Amino acid sequence: MTLRQGQGPAVERHDAVDVIRTKRDGGEVSADALHWLIDAYTRGYVADAQMAAFAMAVLLNGMSRDEIRVMTEAMIASGERMSFEGLGKPTVDKHSTGGVGDKITLPLAPLVASFGVAVPQLSGRGLGHTGGTLDKLESIPGWTAALSNDELFEQLRDVGAVICAAGSGLAPADKKLYALRDVTGTVEAIPLIASSIMSKKIAEGTDALVLDVKFGSGAFMRDVERARELARTMVALGTDSGVATTALLTDMNVPLGLTIGNANEVRESVEVLAGGGPADVVELTVALAREMLALAGKPDADVEAALADGRAMDSWRAMIRAQDGDPDAALPEPRETHTVNAPESGFVTRMDALPFGVAAWRLGAGRARAEDPVMHAAGIDLHAKPGDEVTAGQPLFTLLGHDETRFERALQALEGSWEVGSDAPDRNPLVLERITA
Ligand code: URA
Repeated sequence: MTLRQGQGPAVERHDAVDVIRTKRDGGEVSADALHWLIDAYTRGYVADAQMAAFAMAVLLNGMSRDEIRVMTEAMIASGERMSFEGLGKPTVDKHSTGGVGDKITLPLAPLVASFGVAVPQLSGRGLGHTGGTLDKLESIPGWTAALSNDELFEQLRDVGAVICAAGSGLAPADKKLYALRDVTGTVEAIPLIASSIMSKKIAEGTDALVLDVKFGSGAFMRDVERARELARTMVALGTDSGVATTALLTDMNVPLGLTIGNANEVRESVEVLAGGGPADVVELTVALAREMLALAGKPDADVEAALADGRAMDSWRAMIRAQDGDPDAALPEPRETHTVNAPESGFVTRMDALPFGVAAWRLGAGRARAEDPVMHAAGIDLHAKPGDEVTAGQPLFTLLGHDETRFERALQALEGSWEVGSDAPDRNPLVLERITA
């Protein structure tokens, strides 16, 4: 195996094995060596095997705050850095670590933009049980995710809100490293997650950023302590890089809202923009909007009023039209449905987010491989949530899809994941904590 090829002076500045040994033995890697490592890996001079060993050493031994900052800077330097200077308004973005039924970006971006703030929301597609924002929006006939940098700038100036595909030019080192981590059991390293997420967000050029870091069964981080550590690490990284950053630590043990899928999540987002929608979706949208507007210098913005009086809806319609979508078009409908009813009267005591996410994915709402298509009409509509009182025979949830053969596998995923009992469960706060620099 050739571990280093095409050597030139820059390539030979450090030795990958020395860098790996330093981290393996719990030492601190110098800034120059880290910059070199990321650059040499991106160019193909450092082999996948070496980078995987380094990632495992980071997973086991961690990184200092300085190392994480340098690693993030190196990943930013691997690609383009966008700038929204000249836009004439502040920019603020939101990033969620992902969850089941998490459609918050859809109502949030136009809501915040309705206050004259630019929201450049560069998003991805879903993989596995967490949905992707672009997949949801692609349920809207005509809507396109691909925008050039010039189109992005113009839409931010004219409309304020943009949700579009992140170009491949942002942090290409992260793209390569993330794919490697995925197959080497090193995704879970907090320094690597934090530098991965923040390199893309900082390269995007936003002035401010609000992070929705989720914990619980449907979240990337199940454990609240680890979610808190991730949130603190990312807030520190953003702040150190001059991006005003705060985070909310939010509960993802139960699906968010009453829809899991794509078209049905768009429908629910429109309900929120029309001043209705499920209480938890409204609560989180409002909490994140307040954080974003405070960072954009508008701490007194009346967010609820913009939802109630149609300003946020106007902003949504302009955002969808600007990307060739028809906000009035009918959304895709499932050909088949299957409803599960309450077996007895009582309270819904449990609905575990992860199995509901897996079931929606098995119905066709998500994809197993990046190149797979999604079925926009597939998913799950919930009719009750934990804490709700139900009577025997009352619908609890409905599976949606085009293909009845998928229903059995979805129902298998849901076995033991929900419960109706005689006592109302305790309600946990949705927003547990706010984390600032
Ligand atoms: N999302 C990312 O973009 N990177 C990670 O490492 C994990 C989640």
